[in-house]
Amino acid sequence: MVETIRWADDRIFILDQRLLPHEIRYIECLDYLTVADTIKNLAIRGAPAIGIAAAMAVALASKQQNTTYFEGFYRNIKKVMDVMISTRPTAVNIQWAMNRIDNLILNNSNRPVDEIKSLIVEEALQILQEDIKVNKTIGEFGSQLIKDGYSIITHCNAGSLATGGYGTATAVIYTAHSQGKKIKVFADETRPVLQGARLTSWELMQNGIDVTLITDNAAGWLMKKGLINIAIVGTDRTVRNGDVANKIGTYSLAVLCHRHGIPFYVAAPTSSIDFSIEKGDDIPIEQRDDAEVTTIQGQRIAPMGIKVMNPAFDVTPAELITGIITEKGIFKPSEITRLITQK
Ligand code: MRU
Repeated sequence: MVETIRWADDRIFILDQRLLPHEIRYIECLDYLTVADTIKNLAIRGAPAIGIAAAMAVALASKQQNTTYFEGFYRNIKKVMDVMISTRPTAVNIQWAMNRIDNLILNNSNRPVDEIKSLIVEEALQILQEDIKVNKTIGEFGSQLIKDGYSIITHCNAGSLATGGYGTATAVIYTAHSQGKKIKVFADETRPVLQGARLTSWELMQNGIDVTLITDNAAGWLMKKGLINIAIVGTDRTVRNGDVANKIGTYSLAVLCHRHGIPFYVAAPTSSIDFSIEKGDDIPIEQRDDAEVTTIQGQRIAPMGIKVMNPAFDVTPAELITGIITEKGIFKPSEITRLITQK
């Protein structure tokens, strides 16, 4: 599987996903601000991947601090964390990763700053490795839902590219495939940024999965024709009551599944679950640039002066979700608070 992000020689290498599927090129990040830009401009995207990128950015910034005084060091790193948190608001993984590093620093505040810097680097690399492990476990649990011959629909890219590796929704697909089950995947193209067309279809093809690209508009009709057995999507933030924020269009897909009696599952690492928020209405939804809607690959397709709304995410209410696949098992949305004690 192609590597999404790598730490080497105190630099961060980020696969530029804007160029996929045409070109594999890495952006070499020498400072945290470059990483923040890659997150904002979607060179790297997907909730777990941007959490990992933010953690590595903080590690890089820590290494570059000259001060040996804890107070000054901590103040500077808090500023870096605030910059990373401000890059994209919906995915909770950045906040989650920042909290982890913040706790680590505070728990080691009596140690020399140089030691704290090394601990931060280790923590960032650990976050990456844990994510891959978590995805594989999600794959093992989720693959129990997949029968031989199943057709799976997915939305956006909850794949290897969106994580440290292996993906969340795609982990279920990869694991079922490795178990010898004959499966087909339908990938929604996912307007406006086309993560399904550019990323998921490419990633699945690279890994030998039988994948068919469809327009977002085709999903309902395929369901009506009996061509879909199950839907599996990722999440940017799942909250206490089981409501799920994910790429815009996920809600529509869930409504369609409900209409056609098709099970709708969300693959959610616990790093994407935010127990501090009660319900989906309180999840911040990122609004992105109008140009994502009015142009396709730089070519204008809409009249000049047209009004545009471009929410990047929507919220699927818990009642439309059959189950949430985590690394701790599969839960009904109403049961995910059971994870609080296990977290
Ligand atoms: O805007 P994006 O491409 O970052 O949106 C990504 C998604 O919505 C994914 O489904 C989600 O982050 C889960 S990735 C495992």
